[in-house]
Amino acid sequence: MTDLAKLTFVKRATPKKGTAVVFLDADLRGGAVVSELFSGDPDRIAHLAKISGFTGKKATVIDLIAPADMPVDRLLVVGLGATAELSEADWLKLGGSVCSALQNAKTSDAMIVMETADGEVPDAAAAATFAMGLKLRAYKFDTYKSKKSDADSKPTAIKVQIGVADTRAAKKAWAAKDGIADGVCLARDLVNEPANILGPVEFAKKAAELEELGVDVEILGDKELKKLQMNALLGVAQGSVKPSRLVVMRWNGGKKGAAPAAFVGKGVVFDTGGISIKPAGGMEEMKGDMGGAATVVGLLHAVAARKAKANVIGVIGLVENMPDGNAQRPGDIVTAMSGTTIEILNTDAEGRLVLADALWYTQEKYKPACLIDLATLTGAVIVALGHHHAGLYANDDDLAAKITAAAEATSEAVWRMPLSKDYDKMIDTPNADVKNTGGRWAGSITAAQFLQRFVKDGVPWAHLDIAGTAFSAPKTDISQGWASGYGVRLLDRYIADNHER
Ligand code: BES
Ligand code: MN
Ligand code: ZN
Repeated sequence: MTDLAKLTFVKRATPKKGTAVVFLDADLRGGAVVSELFSGDPDRIAHLAKISGFTGKKATVIDLIAPADMPVDRLLVVGLGATAELSEADWLKLGGSVCSALQNAKTSDAMIVMETADGEVPDAAAAATFAMGLKLRAYKFDTYKSKKSDADSKPTAIKVQIGVADTRAAKKAWAAKDGIADGVCLARDLVNEPANILGPVEFAKKAAELEELGVDVEILGDKELKKLQMNALLGVAQGSVKPSRLVVMRWNGGKKGAAPAAFVGKGVVFDTGGISIKPAGGMEEMKGDMGGAATVVGLLHAVAARKAKANVIGVIGLVENMPDGNAQRPGDIVTAMSGTTIEILNTDAEGRLVLADALWYTQEKYKPACLIDLATLTGAVIVALGHHHAGLYANDDDLAAKITAAAEATSEAVWRMPLSKDYDKMIDTPNADVKNTGGRWAGSITAAQFLQRFVKDGVPWAHLDIAGTAFSAPKTDISQGWASGYGVRLLDRYIADNHER
């Protein structure tokens, strides 16, 4: 995890040492502190910026040695563009860019002056969002690096003070955002950890740590799963020496007895493909095939940390998909917990088998108000949408609209994909109720159709295929690692906007 825990909010004042981070808009105007740093002469900074080729364009940064008459050593000037147009997404990205600039400058002590030109002081929400961008950008997976810092590694232990007008309001806003950021970083850690370290048992233990935040955590083992007749899930796991786990996490922050929002995650700790084995090249990426489960754990962390006034359930199915003498074969027919019989045509289409039982269990046991699953389910969704949107499927337009709105607010993009009878037919088979692949075309859609066979009538359901967004996603201002933590911020927002009383 990141070391930027030293991030604090202080009353805005003129920085006296270290690095000062100040904002200038597109007219090269700053606030009162900037003016004071330049001995009351705002034209001086405008001049300095200009001769440095700085235009004040949004998220551009110049790193200046402070003029000799200044109490600070260094001045990072950050462009805001047109300040009136700054959105939540902008503040988040700005936090990321400032973090990167601080790291490149190898600064260890910085004061960020949250101030724009007169009268346009950023509010507490903007300050907290900015801080979140900073923290997310600073995330680094270096658990297994013996030497934490070499010449080209960026420092993460930076003492950062953010100077704001109203420290109380900023601290309150940050308490929530900090919890959400921790949820994102937790999801990233879980995805980054290799499968020899984080098998189903160890992953479940990590989920159980949420109890410290007041989450009820229940762990079901092989014996219980067998008793529940989760044969679809267990069939995937039978080629692995590692036992399986189903973890249920409950956060009861809402009205007593109110139906919960339920989130279900695919947790394949490693996906070799099983007997339908994957090619060797790039197979190591499949350590991230528990990305859906990681997001659900991160989400439960977020809602518990910010004490969300909602009832939220997380259910994750944890298995390893390996080939061995006991492994499931193509042609096998298994009976899922729901009673549906499934013909296995490809043992590499395993995520849907795990989800089939996890989805059914969640509905039977908790009668949720809505059911949202997340899974690194198909390569096909990457063919369709690349790494920039998750595929969104839903049986309910209202739910789809709400998720899309939350996606826009948090800039964790989704793109709605179709479901229909015609696609559903593609997974019919003469030998059983359903087969686990629909053939070459529309692979992400037929996977979603498969899941829908395990959704009860009347339950608002959505499925996010996050194969392209959970890992191996492009570097952004707020994500420099391989694992992105995609979906934690999106679904936390969905809960905040739709399920809190
Ligand atoms: N975990 C993979 C999907 C995946 C592929 C995620 C690449 C991230 C990157 C999934 O279990 C899988 O293997 N799906 C198959 C399904 C096919 C056999 C019907 C696929 O997409 O090729
Ligand atoms: Mn697979
Ligand atoms: Zn998989």
